[in-house]
Amino acid sequence: MQKYDPPLSTVIVIVIVIVIVIVIVIVIVIVIVHVHVHAPSLSINIIIVQHHHRPTSSSSSSPIDLDLDPPHRRSTSSDTPSTTGVDNLLHQHHWHSVMDRESSLRVSVPKRTSTSAAKFRDEMIWSVIIAFTAIAEAIPQGSGAGASTMLRFGCSQIVIDRIDPLVNPGLAPSPHLHQVVGGNAFNTSMASTDVSSLATCTTCSYADDLSNYWTANLYFKARNGTYKRVPQVPNRLLFNDKFTTQTSGGFVVYYVSPGKGKVTAFKPGFRMLVGDAAQRTKVGSGRKSQSCFRCYSGTNFGGDNAAPCADATLDTEELPKKACLGGIRSNILYPTCWDGVNLDSPDHKAHVAYPTAGPQAFTGSSVGGACPSTHPTHIPQIMLEIVWDTTKFNNKADWPTDGSQPFVLSTGDTTGYGQHGDYVFGWKGNSLQEAMDSTTACMGAACGGLRTQVIENANKCSVPKRVVEEQDGSRG
Ligand SMILES: *[C@@H]1O[C@H](CO)[C@@H](O)[C@H](O)[C@H]1NC(C)=O
Ligand SMILES: *[C@@H]1O[C@H](CO)[C@@H](O)[C@H](O)[C@H]1NC(C)=O
Repeated sequence: MQKYDPPLSTVIVIVIVIVIVIVIVIVIVIVIVHVHVHAPSLSINIIIVQHHHRPTSSSSSSPIDLDLDPPHRRSTSSDTPSTTGVDNLLHQHHWHSVMDRESSLRVSVPKRTSTSAAKFRDEMIWSVIIAFTAIAEAIPQGSGAGASTMLRFGCSQIVIDRIDPLVNPGLAPSPHLHQVVGGNAFNTSMASTDVSSLATCTTCSYADDLSNYWTANLYFKARNGTYKRVPQVPNRLLFNDKFTTQTSGGFVVYYVSPGKGKVTAFKPGFRMLVGDAAQRTKVGSGRKSQSCFRCYSGTNFGGDNAAPCADATLDTEELPKKACLGGIRSNILYPTCWDGVNLDSPDHKAHVAYPTAGPQAFTGSSVGGACPSTHPTHIPQIMLEIVWDTTKFNNKADWPTDGSQPFVLSTGDTTGYGQHGDYVFGWKGNSLQEAMDSTTACMGAACGGLRTQVIENANKCSVPKRVVEEQDGSRG
């Protein structure tokens, strides 16, 4: 006795579904025609954060520790086994199918020169794609366990501060500056407890995500020795998610699950670190797939076509060596295997690991093959994506005379190999597990029952700075 429908009735179901789709599309056409006759059109809303120029001061302390010998220097290589090129190809292939849906969104954004007829047509394409995607994903695949989830959501900056409750708890100032997003429980130290019960608000669009995520800041060092902080700017419009295009600084967070029951969400008190702030040489062994910089080839996120860290020419493990016409994007991916027991470890890394096949490239739908026996539990794949508006620093006359690139992380790292990301879990209740187990193929910033909030609320959430110092630039 077959558990699921035999092929013939499946075909009938699909035919019925397609008929329903066509009807829905026709209704959408009629509605959109009606609504858009006089309505304003979609537009990508790129907010260039106004850089606050302050007078340079020789007396203020620099936000950058160029002579850093951090107390948290760690050994690096235990968690970076090799990866395979075949895997990467497969991943890239899948990413293209994800992005193919999205490319129509890009088309849907009217260029300044397009006529209203063209705008209308483009928006129609997107609406149809959305409708088809929704229906296609609603067609039963076995028990529905085939639906993968990729949350992608913006979080405004909650603070820029020289504290690090994970690596240097209680230390203010800590060795280097960080930019932080997420809940307002962020503090000099944070007990390994249920953060979601300490925080009362978050800067992220998912209102139940009271986690904190933080990374180093980026600075431009001019030829005359002056530092200027490079502003983080909102990411591009995808999945019709306006929130993410309106964040104040901050960055985008991803969570990936291959399907129902495939990952175990983090437990209250969980935290982890990826990367090594003290690293200054190439790590190799698949590390580029976990930490990279994308050199946008043109304005408006130019060249953003391949999966994160998978573009052979635009993505590099080190900071780009040439001027990037559309700015620079950082991608930081976390390991996807957990020992199943420890919420943290002395180096904040030993309790997590990469799959036995190596670091899992980002596909938006998988978390890698088997986990090692020491870390048998698959956890969601988290990725951070930060867009730095470096475009106002592209004047080669201000770049170092030796031809090297001028950007430096707040750790003093001019190589980029020391890029790292911190994470303190703080989702409310079972909300993350439920999203990861969703059978409706959640994509982007809307997922079943997950609560969201408007950007105005997110931007009201803040925490006071613990270390007061010049952060935007210094040292003339
Ligand atoms: C942050 O930590 C300081 C010092 O431990 C404490 O006084 C303060 O209440 C904490 N703030 C929050 C919001 O937890
Ligand atoms: C150093 O160069 C930068 C970039 O050209 C400029 O903005 C800044 O005013 C200069 N600072 C000094 C002290 O000359």
